[in-house]
Amino acid sequence: MKAKVTATARYLPERVLTNFDLEKMVDTNNEWIRSRTGIETRHLVSEGEATSDMGTNIAMQLLEKTGKSPEDIDLILVATSTPDYLVCATAALIQNNIGAKNAWGFDIAAACSGFIYAMETGTKMVESGRYKNAIVIGADTMSSIIDYTDRNTCVIFGDGGGGVLLEQSDDEIGILDSILHTDGSGSQYLNVPAGGSAHPASKDTIENRMHYVHQDGKTVFKFAVKNMADVSKQILDQNNLTGDDLKLFIPHQANRRIIDAAAKRCGLAEDKVLININKYGNTTAGTIPIALDEAVETNRLQKGDLLLLAAFGGGFTWGSMLIRWGDA
Ligand SMILES: CC(C)(COP(=O)(O)OP(=O)(O)OC[C@H]1O[C@@H](n2cnc3c(N)ncnc32)[C@H](O)[C@@H]1OP(=O)(O)O)[C@@H](O)C(=O)NCCC(=O)NCCS
Repeated sequence: MKAKVTATARYLPERVLTNFDLEKMVDTNNEWIRSRTGIETRHLVSEGEATSDMGTNIAMQLLEKTGKSPEDIDLILVATSTPDYLVCATAALIQNNIGAKNAWGFDIAAACSGFIYAMETGTKMVESGRYKNAIVIGADTMSSIIDYTDRNTCVIFGDGGGGVLLEQSDDEIGILDSILHTDGSGSQYLNVPAGGSAHPASKDTIENRMHYVHQDGKTVFKFAVKNMADVSKQILDQNNLTGDDLKLFIPHQANRRIIDAAAKRCGLAEDKVLININKYGNTTAGTIPIALDEAVETNRLQKGDLLLLAAFGGGFTWGSMLIRWGDA
């Protein structure tokens, strides 16, 4: 038995922050941001809007698109680095909000690779036969952990999310293969230092701005270029495929230059790569499911097409996933 995607959905908050807005907030400019990252705008939540609100909207869309009732759902997985609360999973909040009283669920923390990690988890649960379906969401409210006085990070990230419904498949359609990696020696290069058990919130942690994302951009960049490209090529090789066999490549959207390097390594023409970083920036666990829903909406995927997903993120984490598309 395989697991297949039977519906996709996305949610982007209404508020838009442009490069020109950022010019007024920190010492940066539109030309630098566009040429170094490919980003032009990003969406931000409104006051009071949290990750579970985005996830609830996404889950409701998935139910509507598949005609399922909340009681039909077996499992809810939420990839996020910005849960509503430290204790109490965002998956639980979404489960309650949509009334999925027969579902259980939990959050997965793998930063920008979170959606692929959650897809792998959901796939194996559904393939086991024990669960008929799983809602898999990737969503992040990065604005809740971004320092809007730090030009090294505030220009890159945005808020948003997306998700899929996974269901059982008894034919060749579905998730075909995946490769996942973790290397915790990279944890020092991209993290939020305080607010967890290592440095609980205190006057000092707040004064030292330790509740915001800190990153060594250059190190992360080098790591990402090598590993996202390698893991994309590796999954093609182990399935005896080349870039020509793919209909679409959806990479994590962190930096246009990182995406271009991965696409080149797989020998992919530009029209086979989905790029929307210009509109949304890096929404962490949200980038891939947002892009997937846009691909479906614009008819870029037909039944039988081969789709490759790839991501990297804090941890370090990275991975790729090969999918034979159905009729979602
Ligand atoms: C952050 C990133 C865009 C910076 O781009 P870069 O080409 O590596 O730029 P550098 O870090 O070499 O900085 C070059 C200069 O631009 C400056 N700079 C940094 N951010 C700037 C900004 N927003 N506007 C203008 N100048 C900026 C730097 O201070 C530096 O100035 P200096 O030479 O006087 O010290 C890039 O390293 C990156 O994308 N890294 C990966 C980050 C990432 O993807 N994180 C999420 C992982 S999922």
